[in-house]
Amino acid sequence: MVPDKIVLLPDNIANQIAAGEVIQRPASAVKELLENAVDAGATEIKLIILEAGKSLIQVIDNGGGMSETDARMCFERHATSKIRNIEDLFHIKTMGFRGEALASIAAVAQVELKSKRPDDEAGVYIEVENSVVKKQEPVATPTGTSIAMKNLFFNVPARRNFLKSNAAEMRHIVDEFTRVALSFPHIFFSLTSNSQQLFHLEAGSLKQRIVQLLGNNYNAKLVTVKEDTDYMNIYGFVGKPETAKKTRGDQYFFVNNRFIKSAYLNHAVMNAYQEMIAGDSFPMYVLFIDLDPAVVDVNVHPTKQEIKFEDEKIVYAFVQAAVKHALAQFSVTPALDFDLDASIQQLSAIQQPFTEEKKSAASSSSLFKGFTQKNQAHFIEPSKKEELRNWKDFYESEKSEVGIQKSEGSVQQAESFPTPGFRPLTSSEIEVTQLLNTYIITPSARGFIVIHQQSAHERVLYEQLTAAGNGKPIATQRSMFPATLELAPADAAILGELMNDLQQLGYLIEPFGKNSFVIQGTPADLEAGNEKNVIDTLLEQFKHFSNELKFSKREKLIRSLAKQQAIKAGTRLTEREMRQLVNDLFACEQSNSTPSGHPTYLEFNQEQLEKMFGR
Ligand SMILES: Nc1ncnc2c1ncn2[C@@H]1O[C@H](COP(=O)(O)OP(=O)(O)OP(=O)(O)O)[C@@H](O)[C@H]1O
Ligand SMILES: [Mg+2]
Repeated sequence: MVPDKIVLLPDNIANQIAAGEVIQRPASAVKELLENAVDAGATEIKLIILEAGKSLIQVIDNGGGMSETDARMCFERHATSKIRNIEDLFHIKTMGFRGEALASIAAVAQVELKSKRPDDEAGVYIEVENSVVKKQEPVATPTGTSIAMKNLFFNVPARRNFLKSNAAEMRHIVDEFTRVALSFPHIFFSLTSNSQQLFHLEAGSLKQRIVQLLGNNYNAKLVTVKEDTDYMNIYGFVGKPETAKKTRGDQYFFVNNRFIKSAYLNHAVMNAYQEMIAGDSFPMYVLFIDLDPAVVDVNVHPTKQEIKFEDEKIVYAFVQAAVKHALAQFSVTPALDFDLDASIQQLSAIQQPFTEEKKSAASSSSLFKGFTQKNQAHFIEPSKKEELRNWKDFYESEKSEVGIQKSEGSVQQAESFPTPGFRPLTSSEIEVTQLLNTYIITPSARGFIVIHQQSAHERVLYEQLTAAGNGKPIATQRSMFPATLELAPADAAILGELMNDLQQLGYLIEPFGKNSFVIQGTPADLEAGNEKNVIDTLLEQFKHFSNELKFSKREKLIRSLAKQQAIKAGTRLTEREMRQLVNDLFACEQSNSTPSGHPTYLEFNQEQLEKMFGR
C-alpha cells in the first residue's frame, strides 16, 4: 500500500507563502503598518526607514495601543479587531480587515513590537521571528504602538535577491507614504530615511498636504472639485491644465479614503480634460470618492488597491461630470485660448526676436501648426500627409526584402541590418536635405536613405553617454550663473541617488539644503540655458523607465538623457548639423535603431524603387 501523501503545512510556512501576496517588497510592509496606525486612531505617525526598508521599517504611532493578549494575538493569521462577521465585510470603515498583515510581516522579518493603551500602567514588548514569539516582557513606553521590522526576507533569500536597488525601493516607499499621507491630512506624518528627515507633514488641510507632498509648483494651481449627491460624494483637487505632465505622475483616486488604481476612472478624468491639455500629457488629480461601503467591494485583491463598484458606469459619469464642472467654473480661459497660450509660451523663439530660422522652427511646432495652418503656404495638407504614411506602410510591408526590422523593445543585432551602401565621405561632401523639418535625406551608394533626425540623434547620444559611463567622463562646463532647483521631496530623493552617475555624464549638481540643489555645470557640448527644465524632464523620464526591471540605474539614466537631449522632430537643422548627425550615426556601433528598438533610418535602393514604379 502506498502511504497517504497529504500533510498540513506548519504555520510558519503557511504564513510565509501567504505573505507573498501581501508583502511583496518593503513598500507593502510600509503600507500595512501605516494603515494599522491610522486604524488605531493615531494623530501622529512616524515612519523610519534604513536602507530603503531592507534593514529597517519602523512605524511609531500615538493611537489606541494593544493589551498584552492583543499584542500576542495580532501576529496570528486571521486575527483582527476590525470585523466580527461576514456582514461587517460590507460596512468596512477601517483600512484593514483581513487580519493578515502582521502575520505576514512576522513570517518574513524579525519584528519588535512595543505597545501601550492609554489607561495601562506599563506597556508590552514582544519579539517575533519566523512567526515564533521569541521574547515577551513589560516595558515602559508611551501610549501607542511602535512596530519595527528588521531584515525583511532574511529567511526567504529568493525574495530578498529579487528586491531592486535602494533608489527604486525607496521610491515605492515614498509612493505608499504619499498615498496614506494624502488620504489623512489631519494626521501628522513624518518620514525619516537613513537618519535624514524627508517629510515632516503637520496636520492641516488637504490642499496644504498636496503642496507639502507633491511640491510647491501646485500652489495656486489647484482647482477644487466638490459635488454631493445622495448616492455618492466627490471632493478633492485637480491641477490647472498647465500643470499637466508628460508622464503619468501625480494621479490619485481614493474610494472611502482607500487609495485605488482604476484605469476606468482615470479615463473619466482624462475625458473631462479633453481639448484642454495635449493628448500625450497627464493632468494632476487627487480625488476622494465616498459612497456607501455596501456598494463597493474592496475584497478583490490582497493589497486592496483594486475594488469593484456595484455600478461602475454611474461612478464614471459622476467623476467626469464633477471634474468638467470644476474645470469650467475655474477655467482660467476658454480651452482654445489656453492651447494657444501654452504652445506659444513653450516656443523659445517667441521670447526672442524673430529671425527667419526661428520663424520656421516655431511654425513647425505641432501645436502652433494647429492654429496657423490655414495661413501657411508651405503647410502640408493632411491628405498629403496621409499619402506619405501609406507610402511608408507600403514600404514597410516589403521590409523583409530589404532587411529592415522594426523590433519592439529589443535591440537588433547589428549584423541583421548592415550599414547601407553608405560611402564614408568627409562631412563636407555629403549631400543632405531636410524634409518636414524631421527627416534627413541623403544619397547612398545603392539609392538613398531617409533618416529620422530625432531617433538618429537619440542613438548617437546613447552611445556617447554609454561610453562616458564606462570611464570616459563627459566634460562639464561650469555655469556662470548656477541655477537652483527646488524639488518635491520624492524627486529630491531620486536626484540624490543619481548625483554621482550624473556627474560622470557631465552634470555637476550639488545638494543645497532640504530638497534643493544647485546645478553647477552641464555637459560641455549641451546648449546652455534651461538647465532646470532639463533636470525636471530627466526625473520624469527616469520615473517612467523605473518600471522596467531589466535596466540598471545607469542604463535608465542614459536612456532618459538620450531621449531627452535628442534634437526633436520638427526642428530645422543647418546643413552642417545634418552632416554631423549623419556621420555620427554611421559611426555608431549599432546605427540602425534607437535604444528602444525604433528604426533610425530607412534605405531605398534602386531595385526597390524600380519595383515600386512597376519597372
Ligand atoms: N498600530 C496598531 N495599534 C493598535 N492596534 C494594532 C496596530 N496594528 C495592529 N493592531 C491590531 O492588530 C490586529 C491585526 O493587525 P493586521 O494588520 O494584521 O490585521 P488588520 O489590520 O485587522 O487587517 P489587514 O490584514 O487587512 O491589515 C488589528 O486588527 C489591530 O487590532
Ligand atoms: Mg492591518
